[in-house]
Amino acid sequence: MNDPNGLIFDGHTFHLYYQYDPFAPYAGQVHWGHATSTDLYTWEDQPIAIDQTAAGEAYSGCVVLDRDNVSGLFPVQKATDPSETHARGPATATQAAIDALTPSLGKASSDVPLSPENMDALGPSAAAPFGHVFDPPTTTDLPPVTPPASTLPPMAGGLVALYTRATPQQQTQYLAWSPDGGKRFIDYAHNPVLDIGLNSFRDPKVFWHEPSGKWVMVVVKARAHKVAFYGSIDLKHWMPLSDFGPAGLFGVDYECPNLIELPIEEDGKNTRWVLFVSVNPGGPQGGSVTQYFVGDFDGERFIPENTVIGLTDFAKDSYAMQVYENLPLNDAVYFAWFGNWQYCEEVPNRSWRGLMTVPRTLSLRRDDMNWLRLVQRPKGLEQLRGEAIPFKVGRIGAQSGVQVSIPTGQAIELSLTVTVDERKNPQPDGNKGRAGRFLIVFSNGQGETLSIGFDAFSAQLWLDRGDLHGFSQPFFTERFSTPLTANSRRFSMKIVLDACALEIFANDGLSVGTALVFPSSPLDTLSLQATNAGAMVEDLSLYPLRKTMN
Ligand code: FRU
Repeated sequence: MNDPNGLIFDGHTFHLYYQYDPFAPYAGQVHWGHATSTDLYTWEDQPIAIDQTAAGEAYSGCVVLDRDNVSGLFPVQKATDPSETHARGPATATQAAIDALTPSLGKASSDVPLSPENMDALGPSAAAPFGHVFDPPTTTDLPPVTPPASTLPPMAGGLVALYTRATPQQQTQYLAWSPDGGKRFIDYAHNPVLDIGLNSFRDPKVFWHEPSGKWVMVVVKARAHKVAFYGSIDLKHWMPLSDFGPAGLFGVDYECPNLIELPIEEDGKNTRWVLFVSVNPGGPQGGSVTQYFVGDFDGERFIPENTVIGLTDFAKDSYAMQVYENLPLNDAVYFAWFGNWQYCEEVPNRSWRGLMTVPRTLSLRRDDMNWLRLVQRPKGLEQLRGEAIPFKVGRIGAQSGVQVSIPTGQAIELSLTVTVDERKNPQPDGNKGRAGRFLIVFSNGQGETLSIGFDAFSAQLWLDRGDLHGFSQPFFTERFSTPLTANSRRFSMKIVLDACALEIFANDGLSVGTALVFPSSPLDTLSLQATNAGAMVEDLSLYPLRKTMN
């Protein structure tokens, strides 16, 4: 698998679709795989939801809940109770909302005018002038069925996918609807719904924008390094709103954009819009990287607050993140693909290759330089915890350490807060330069080590996967580092380590490192070591995490 797609909570079930080649453990003939869960950890494998077809591979995209059947694609129609409220989804598409939208839709962006050809491609109703683009729900794909009132289902619509059909010649956006709650998707008869004649135009992510009463699509003009915004009221007809970029990292392609309003922690009700743009290749560590911009979105354009970009990760194996649709505001949960295009098709595999990060929540926090920074925390790990592994630590003297056995064949979660002693300057041995370093080391009997270190003088963290011998390749970078912008001698950390997957959340999610790790045999020992200066370890907990798949 690669990218997560179509992440949506349907009110009962979390859906996780993903880029999947059913024929080989690498990308080539991409379909949408599918899994479902009620806790984001225990997944049930489902049949393929969208196939590769003669029209192309099924590239990345999203799923939205067309609750009121504004697309008109669902055969059973019923007016919904307008008092029904829902988090991120439209109320009934009222005439007022349609009227409010049409003037802004009329302002087609100047560099991508919708041509008469494009209008034709949108289907029969698109030939109308922009002022009349909204069709009342129709049932062109299936004949309408009007059952007696007592048997009407509670919802008029259902799940709708918007995704890219890709051939070497073209990339266009397709619409598909699901007759069975997300198991299968049926392509709309008048696809593509968006074609601007480019062969690098992909990865639509759609959300309901309540203030302007319309669906908004973010999608990339990949080689032009632009994120394009489109608006729609019926999910079938898309009008250009604006373009953003080139900005931040250029790389070769922009991919998988996401736009979401996030809360600022400890800031009352304030929020900002955050635009995520994945870039490949061309990340500063090599290959794939996801950058983010903090700003505002007015329903038409994204206005960055400043020219600073952030990266979601200080290592290089978190890519193509997608945020869940249809969760309440302030519950922004995402998955990223745990991989990097530089080596994802070469890393060791058995019957499978490719995985997702743990589910993570997103928010914003002001760092000690007053910048708004992304905060990422694992979501709901507690529910997987087994019995705590006893490991009493406390103070560790300079040049000493403590160790404990950890279970293999099971993930573990380690949390701790460390304060390294103040540097004595000059040192008794006359060496005045050395600051304390603190090491968290996972190892095995084969002499392999995976180290996470903290340098108390510069307040920087490093991660070293170079002493594991299960995989090497020129692009498989061995060491990463990041500054921690907090009290320089103190840091907190949560580490989740599974067989081939290491996730580090430092300082309560302010610095995150996601790294594939390939020991040649399982890591079965954890040690904590202080060098040059002693350290105080507090709030330590160590848990085995329950297996969620066999
Ligand atoms: C990102 C990406 C997307 C594309 C998909 C193809 O990893 O390249 O741009 O839709 O993967 O599998």
